[in-house]
Amino acid sequence: MQRREFLTSSLATGAAIATYNLANKANAETAAKPTNAATPAVAPATAKAPVAATGPFGQPPLSYSLGALAPFLKEEQMNYHFNKHHAGYFKKLNTLVEGKPEAKLSLEELILQSQGPIFNNAAQAWNHTFFWNSMSPNGGSNPTGLIAEALQRDFGGVEAFKKAFGEAAINLFGSGWAWLVADKDRKLQILPLPNADNPLKHKLTPLLTLDVWEHSYYIDYRNDRAGYVAGFWSKVNWDFATHNLATMAKT
Ligand SMILES: [Fe+2]
Repeated sequence: MQRREFLTSSLATGAAIATYNLANKANAETAAKPTNAATPAVAPATAKAPVAATGPFGQPPLSYSLGALAPFLKEEQMNYHFNKHHAGYFKKLNTLVEGKPEAKLSLEELILQSQGPIFNNAAQAWNHTFFWNSMSPNGGSNPTGLIAEALQRDFGGVEAFKKAFGEAAINLFGSGWAWLVADKDRKLQILPLPNADNPLKHKLTPLLTLDVWEHSYYIDYRNDRAGYVAGFWSKVNWDFATHNLATMAKT
């Protein structure tokens, strides 16, 4: 695939994800409109609204309350993760791009085109929003339809996928993300990536993700990453994965 084609494809992926729940650039003319009301299988937004952005990139609100994922993740854990860590990436990114051409780009464009601190903070801003959508207060039931068929085809079933994904998440050394992704032929893969790395950078479409940075689980689980990974399945948002697979860019 030529670079321009990939960029178009990746941006289409970003746009499709945006229709679910990602409005990641508060004041850009091209920013996706917030679609929390259309988000399936989540509770009404009751989380405290993030502080208004002081730069071009604004943190989207959660589409459920900070305590809505308990007992998997309790309110204190979510409060630190969402209001301190995730908010911090947006704050840092806005500082880094101030007065620079990068301030006019979308998060997806920054992920594809930048390196170093701007990439790290843009990717972490994007990754966390994707992670919040990968969970739902009403999640956790067995997947059905398109995603269930794909999991059966590419992993031999939901349980086999959960086992392989869980092992990848537990064994990822240090900080990073466990991703379920689709390649251009819609074949599913498990992709553990370190630090802020993102599937868009690897020409893959993200479907689900689990944050395995220690800050994501240490209040509730201390050093028990395996317990945190096991609990993820109680709130996993299969509807989000199905949406991302169904709407991924045609190649
Ligand atoms: Fe995190």
